[in-house]
Amino acid sequence: MAETQVRDVSNHVLFEIATEVANRVGGIYSVLKSKAQVTTAEYGAAYTLLGPLNKQSAAVEVEVIEPKDPAMAATIKSMNERGIKTLYGRWLVDGAPRVLLFDTGTGYGWLDEWKGDLWSVAGIPSPPGDHETNEAIVFGYIVAWFLGEYTSHETKRAVIAQFHEWLAGVAIPLCKRRRIDVTTIFTTHATLLGRYLCAGSVDFYNNLQYFDVDAEAGKRGIYHRYCIERASAHSADVFTTVSHITAYESEHLLKRKPDGVLPNGLNVKKFSATHEFQNLHQQAKGKINDFVRGHFYGHNDFDPDNTLYFFTAGRYEYRNKGVDMFIESLARLNHQMKSSGSTMTVVAFIILPAQTQSLTVEALKGQAVIKSLHDTVKIIEENVGKKLFERSIAWTEGQDLPEDKELLSPSDKIMLRRRLFAMKRNTLPPIVTHNMVNDSEDPVLNQLRRCQLFNHPSDRVKVVFHPEFLNSANPVLPMDYDDFVRGTHLGVFSSYYEPWGYTPAECTVMGVPSITTNLSGFGCYMEELIENASDYGIYIVDRRMKGVDDSVNQLSDYMYEFTKKSKRQRINQRNRTERLSDLLDWKRMGMEYVKARQLALRRAYPAAYDEDEEPDFFGSHEVKISRPLSEPGSPRDRSGMMTPGDFASLQEGLEGLSTEDYIAWKLPEEEDPDDYAFPLTL
Ligand code: UDP
Ligand code: G6P
Ligand code: GLC
Repeated sequence: MAETQVRDVSNHVLFEIATEVANRVGGIYSVLKSKAQVTTAEYGAAYTLLGPLNKQSAAVEVEVIEPKDPAMAATIKSMNERGIKTLYGRWLVDGAPRVLLFDTGTGYGWLDEWKGDLWSVAGIPSPPGDHETNEAIVFGYIVAWFLGEYTSHETKRAVIAQFHEWLAGVAIPLCKRRRIDVTTIFTTHATLLGRYLCAGSVDFYNNLQYFDVDAEAGKRGIYHRYCIERASAHSADVFTTVSHITAYESEHLLKRKPDGVLPNGLNVKKFSATHEFQNLHQQAKGKINDFVRGHFYGHNDFDPDNTLYFFTAGRYEYRNKGVDMFIESLARLNHQMKSSGSTMTVVAFIILPAQTQSLTVEALKGQAVIKSLHDTVKIIEENVGKKLFERSIAWTEGQDLPEDKELLSPSDKIMLRRRLFAMKRNTLPPIVTHNMVNDSEDPVLNQLRRCQLFNHPSDRVKVVFHPEFLNSANPVLPMDYDDFVRGTHLGVFSSYYEPWGYTPAECTVMGVPSITTNLSGFGCYMEELIENASDYGIYIVDRRMKGVDDSVNQLSDYMYEFTKKSKRQRINQRNRTERLSDLLDWKRMGMEYVKARQLALRRAYPAAYDEDEEPDFFGSHEVKISRPLSEPGSPRDRSGMMTPGDFASLQEGLEGLSTEDYIAWKLPEEEDPDDYAFPLTL
């Protein structure tokens, strides 16, 4: 809250607070990391990210430096003197923003006191034994402590504190109660109740208005967490979320209508050669081929040139991430491909971290036998080469050409035979790469079993469940996630609950087509932005208006149509997909963050603004534009007319945003498929 002396709003300081600073968990890490470049370009040294210290990941992601800002240095010193350990440095990502990480372990001495205080100042209970909530409370109190001290040292510049998600939100009601002279923004990337209700078997979207929120939170044992989330939303000067669908949900579940939507962008890297991303696809696909050859050893009866790689990836939220629908659709796709006599093979990867003990012996063996075969063939190749060279040198006219079978010596033949025998296998190639802690109860494995997707030679759809995030140090599939995505043909993210969904967006900027749903923020966003999204490799399954069975069929049909594309058609489509990158670049998306900050400053320091001046973040109106003409030029978007969040732009006052504005994520009107400039199958 602003005090009487008005701070300098034009030259302000920005803090962003989240638990995923330099610590990968899910999409919030992707937001902060990818946005760092544009935010540091705008703020330079006046931008710092605050987070809890995760020693393991900070050790590789953060370079320690000395703070130069005197207020920062003084605050850190005083907190250190009172026992709070900190790590200040640069996050080693594009933009290299400054980060201040607090060792929450050093604040636990105050835990009981802080819990009592949270109850008396905000009425938020905190039952014992909930580690995640304890962490949120300790972190929140440390952040409020930091902001209180910082603003007492920095008295001239205005300070904006933007908090991401409830886990980082405890400090917001504290800032308000303690009248700390900062302006706050709370950005939620989901709602707790949304995640929990959707994971169960509730018809979430048709009942949003009717849930008894306190009772539902109580039933799931998350009432105290819900209180933190709701208090964060209500105490913040500005409340935002990442998509219109989550804005609507927040209004009903958190009982505050968001002031606006801040969609997620990406740090888009352009290559100097336009087609470089296609070459990278080819290279990365080669690495996936190596894995597949090993995994399917003894059963490599499908042609790599007629094989397509599909995948899904994310945190293991089986129903929310639509993995249930994906597997069911794969079973139907398998049936469609078999009965139509398709010559293609689909290898579908499911990448979801679960509890595992180790890689399976079979998975390791697969890579080992192929490596030995590779090594042996290399030796034979050299032996044959040498022999061929010597015979060619000795060759004279009239003799037979030195090309006969004799080139392979008996010992070469034995070596080769050994390798071939090692590849014999009595079992089918496995459907999972790791030993699971809970194999018999794992939902993915159980559904694969139910659908009988067992990698049988007659199956046209093969499956590989990799229950661990990817990384290049993995001995079985040694690739980083980005690299892997590039090498695939299609990402499938059939989410039921997905406030934004980075995974399909990441596919898009890498030129990989993807399937998502109209229940994901990203899916709705793309559907609003471009009228013929599927032509650009953005397929959107209708999970809103259709019944489950119809949605599953729509998904398997999309995949089936995709298998019928020729190589040339796939290459063309990838080119079109990649062209959408600019729409997702933070250079464009970041505008909404700028507006949110302006609104926060205005609300906290109204005296610093000329009252008569119309704020530039007031909403413009949605303008429908026509579909592209027959030439596959750049996608028509609404840039120039509006920036992304203008579908439900940041507005002041009650007259601003109406609910209709952000439930405009309904399907566009049905159009005649013959009008499509780029029909689905070319
Ligand atoms: N991801 C990853 N490694 C993997 C699979 C996924 O780093 O093997 C990342 C992916 O790049 C994405 C994030 O996990 O940025 C998931 O974010 P999303 O917004 O899709 O979902 P969330 O987990 O936040 O619900
Ligand atoms: C890229 C490469 C081409 C390659 C193609 C394979 O476009 O530049 O050299 O032929 O990928 O495409 P596919 O869809 O079969 O993986
Ligand atoms: C959340 C959501 C995800 C979103 C991410 C970043 O974790 O589950 O859909 O993409 O935050 O906003």
